Amino acid sequence: QDGDVATGEKEFRKCKACHMIESPEGESIVKGGKTGPNLYGIIGSPAGAQEGFKYSDALIALNEAGEVWTQEDLAAYITDPNAFVQEKTGDDSAKTKMTFKMRKNQADVAAYLASVSPE
Ligand code: HEM
Repeated sequence: QDGDVATGEKEFRKCKACHMIESPEGESIVKGGKTGPNLYGIIGSPAGAQEGFKYSDALIALNEAGEVWTQEDLAAYITDPNAFVQEKTGDDSAKTKMTFKMRKNQADVAAYLASVSPE
């Protein structure tokens, strides 16, 4: 898609407070916090499915709705996580644990995350 990977990599510093990127082999690509799930290989993965992370009911509902992260959907999610989950699940009271909103360069971050995955 139309995001810029280099810009997205820079912008990802805003996500690091809560998210790390670490391969299944344990290679650390970005050191970060553990408030949010590991984002390695997130594009193409089902929502709410990272091993060992305790998701909100909203993310579990999103998983059950069959959501698989595309770059487009990830960009929409980080723009307004609650609005995204509410729209996808049809539940107006759904609330995610992610309170952060990114209002610009969302597509760049999505392109960067697509670049940090197997193959
Ligand atoms: C969940 C991306 C910033 C906390 C997620 C998910 C994505 C994501 C894609 C869903 C993961 C999955 O389905 O496994 C991002 C990006 C960020 C960002 C790209 C920067 C633009 C943050 C920040 C925080 C945070 C700054 C903490 C203040 C969380 C938490 C969840 C989450 C707690 C789990 C949500 C739940 O269970 O409801 N994030 N995030 N994120 N993120 Fe972020």
